Amino acid sequence: MPRFLALTSRGLGGALHSELHELGFKKLEMGGPNVSFEGSWKEGYRAHLQSRVANRILLPILDFQAYNAEDLYSAIFKKHDFTKYITPEQTLAIEAHVFEHRELRDQRFVAQKVKDAIVDQFRKKFDRRPDVDAKNPDLQVVVRVNRTEISVAIDLTGEPLSFRGYRQQAGEAPLRETMAAGLVEISDWNRSQPMIDPMCGSGTLLIEAALKARGGLIPRKSPFLFQRLLNFDGSAFAKAQAEAANAAQPIQDLKLYGFDKDPKVIAFARANAKRAGVESIIHFEVKNIEKLQRPEGLMMGTLICNPPYAVRLGQEKETERLWEDLAHTLKTQFQGWSCWLLSGNKDVSSALHLKTDRKVPVYNGPMECRFLHYNIR
Ligand SMILES: C[S@@+](CC[C@H](N)C(=O)[O-])C[C@H]1O[C@@H](n2cnc3c(N)ncnc32)[C@H](O)[C@@H]1O
Repeated sequence: MPRFLALTSRGLGGALHSELHELGFKKLEMGGPNVSFEGSWKEGYRAHLQSRVANRILLPILDFQAYNAEDLYSAIFKKHDFTKYITPEQTLAIEAHVFEHRELRDQRFVAQKVKDAIVDQFRKKFDRRPDVDAKNPDLQVVVRVNRTEISVAIDLTGEPLSFRGYRQQAGEAPLRETMAAGLVEISDWNRSQPMIDPMCGSGTLLIEAALKARGGLIPRKSPFLFQRLLNFDGSAFAKAQAEAANAAQPIQDLKLYGFDKDPKVIAFARANAKRAGVESIIHFEVKNIEKLQRPEGLMMGTLICNPPYAVRLGQEKETERLWEDLAHTLKTQFQGWSCWLLSGNKDVSSALHLKTDRKVPVYNGPMECRFLHYNIR
């Protein structure tokens, strides 16, 4: 039975684990932000179709020790048959990550050695070899060097899973779709409660919440890389697609609300939600946080938001004032609500003067952030 490795952003490993568990994947093991699971190829395909938090899924194929370039070359050449994945007429690329090694320090050198060993296998068998295409390969081999430990995997995904295709327009600093899905997973929101994003930008958090509630197939723009491999099992893929589609739940009873002061981004958010197929359950409206009132009749629910926190020179006071306005609205309008705010800047979030119940460290791209939880009393 193959073991697959799902990757996500740092800080979202727990969210990915709980999502995969909920989706019924088995024998889960967590290592940092990555979660592995065991299952048939159908399960490997299904993870691509249903996981919202995973950004990429690999098939680990080799783990060995190498003290030098010769060890690396000979293990790749002898220990695994790469000719089962592509024909000599297809293309390949090597992605190397070197963390620490006395001799194998240069990523390009490692990639070169691995490529040499793989193309020599093809030459030996067919007298022909695949070309390298760094931008659009059919076979992408991922090599990780950490001291003398070498691990080799096949990238099954290709274009990252965060590229769902629904977000064609966005304002400033939109969240990556998989990041937004991870934050929704960390929050205590469930589909029986209303959700509000008071500074929703292009609507990513609300759209990802709606996709979680709906389940079923996650939108995807381009084919997966595994579809180009010789060992691709079309009937297992069709079964995975049918299984994923059948898991979709009705969502008409959901209540999600997005507000933003900028009419342009509200128009983007509406168009994005439409492309994601969830526009009927998200109410978007232009509104400044100062004027925001809790929608009538909603006594309890989840508020989730990533307010602007990047402080440009000379704008410290302005950003702090915005967080003060946010605190005022939370205290006066959202008593009894569970509120989650993403902050990459301690100085601005302390302008809230509210006591956090939880601080979850997450990374928004390279930036270390905190996902802060407040129970507004
Ligand atoms: C970091 S962006 C949110 C990005 C969003 N999560 C996404 O994925 O597209 C912050 C948003 O806050 C909005 N904003 C800034 N000041 C505001 C205010 N006073 N009232 C309401 N919205 C505001 C901005 O227009 C911007 O869209």
